[in-house]
Amino acid sequence: MHHRYDVIVVGAGGAGLMSALYAAKGGVSVACISKLYPTRSHTGAAQGGIGAALGNIQEDHWEWHMFDTVKGGDYLTDQDAAEVFSKDIIDVVYELEHMGLPFSRTPEGKIAQRKFGGHTRDFGKAAVERSCYAKDRTGHMILQTLYQQNVKEGTLFFNEFHVTDLLIENGRCTGVVAYELSTGELHTFHAKAVILAAGGYGRVFKITSNALTLTGDLMSIYYRKGLPLEDMEFYQFHPTGLAKLGILVTEGIRGEGGILRNSNLERFMERYAPSIKDLAPRDIVARSMTTEIREGRGVGKDKDAIYIDLTHLPREVIEGKLAEITDLARTYLGQDPVKDLVMVQPTAHYAMGGIPTDLNGLCLSDGNGGSIEGLYAAGEQACVSLHGANRLGTNSLGDLVVFGRRAGKYAAEYARQVEFGDLPDDPEADSRQEFERLRTSNGKENAAGIRKDLQETMMKNVGIFRNGKDMAYQVEYIKELKARYANVAVADPSRKYNSELIEALETGFLLDCAEAMASSAVNRTESRGAHDREDFHSRDDVNWLKHTMAYKDLNNPGNVIIGYKPVALKGFTRSFEPKPRVY
Ligand code: FUM
Repeated sequence: MHHRYDVIVVGAGGAGLMSALYAAKGGVSVACISKLYPTRSHTGAAQGGIGAALGNIQEDHWEWHMFDTVKGGDYLTDQDAAEVFSKDIIDVVYELEHMGLPFSRTPEGKIAQRKFGGHTRDFGKAAVERSCYAKDRTGHMILQTLYQQNVKEGTLFFNEFHVTDLLIENGRCTGVVAYELSTGELHTFHAKAVILAAGGYGRVFKITSNALTLTGDLMSIYYRKGLPLEDMEFYQFHPTGLAKLGILVTEGIRGEGGILRNSNLERFMERYAPSIKDLAPRDIVARSMTTEIREGRGVGKDKDAIYIDLTHLPREVIEGKLAEITDLARTYLGQDPVKDLVMVQPTAHYAMGGIPTDLNGLCLSDGNGGSIEGLYAAGEQACVSLHGANRLGTNSLGDLVVFGRRAGKYAAEYARQVEFGDLPDDPEADSRQEFERLRTSNGKENAAGIRKDLQETMMKNVGIFRNGKDMAYQVEYIKELKARYANVAVADPSRKYNSELIEALETGFLLDCAEAMASSAVNRTESRGAHDREDFHSRDDVNWLKHTMAYKDLNNPGNVIIGYKPVALKGFTRSFEPKPRVY
């Protein structure tokens, strides 16, 4: 079946909905394709807030936010992106408020703000209240608000449609192919502009805060076309996932005064980050927790967790401002934050890397300024390089709405100026072939087994602490998994709601993301942000102040070609003295 819209948006989380809204406001026809129902998108899991220098509690300035973002990104952040972001986010937060987002309030009725890791006043002097929040359900509220606005603006939604291919001819994107879950039919969506906003790929790891659907589909599809993925080695572990489950426990609990404790009940962050303690950036907190666990001071049956202590906080703060995580801890662990220490462990949370874009969301085809006409990306799937080597908490929701808004505006502007491009003769051919291969294969492998082996080994070999030997092993192991994947068969040959088929397809996408990630990580011989190497302990600005661009070698399967892109600098000084880490 064929469809035609000026702008197609893939993904209906915060970035997808914001870009769809702004494309629709731009006076063009817009359709949004989602694997899920929009309000079930993973943005709904974001809890603690959206950082903006409103200064409602204490003095604050966008320049301070910009500095924190650059420093938090360990100076790999593109500073032009950080500047645009720190300025625009103030306006966007008020815009969301005016759309009706129910932010929590100060006693005077202003948007409430709280502390979050790495957000400081006066260029690092002390923590500042910058995170604007709606209890601990901020992402959920953003989704509801933006979905309503899209309905009002006339965006059309294709829910439970799974994008399987991007149509790119002669450097121009002309649409996408999608699989309709309820019928098993393929659809071609012909478009003047396409915006990719389908989220991250946390399911490459065993313990993750990411929803089951976050399998890097569009990153993989982009990469399979010989186009680059940027900075894939930088993957963030959030310090506090519910033990064993990985479900997010917001950093807002530390912003509200929660304290991490080891098996001796020691507040160990005093040793690792004496001034900012539990509110240090999350890469530092996650590594500190892991060090405590490795040195035998973990808690729980397997001694692989850490306590978060809220018991000194008033019940009304816990059950009011932290209602969501209180419910989660009670339901899943049987631990009540009002009176119990809650067990948490670092959980794979966020991809700093992804599809490279410029400041307007236009997708880049290389590290020298080349681009794909008509193709835009925003949100976690994209890499405008706002987060550099490590993202600050709350800057994800901000990224979604700031760069989603820009991508929507620019995609609409482009669509207003051009005619529809030509589609290939049989746009669905590649997708059809892959589905038929999976449905009719006699192979003996099953995708669930491959996915499990991938997740366990990625956790072990490309996790919080890394070294060249383990990562090199993982690069080879992914080749083995890919060979096994070539023999995957699905037991259920049906077409309608065939979730086994979709999961097999997603496993293939995850393998590509893992390949780009492990190859980029083993190549970067320094420690920076979330990329922490035991064999290269220092940051090396002389050799490594540059972005990685990983390309699939289309002539040599399994090989990854690594290129680079310069970092955009804009005045914030870096220390070129590599300092050994204290952990
Ligand atoms: O801790 C949190 O609430 C997560 C926020 C984020 O990842 O930005």
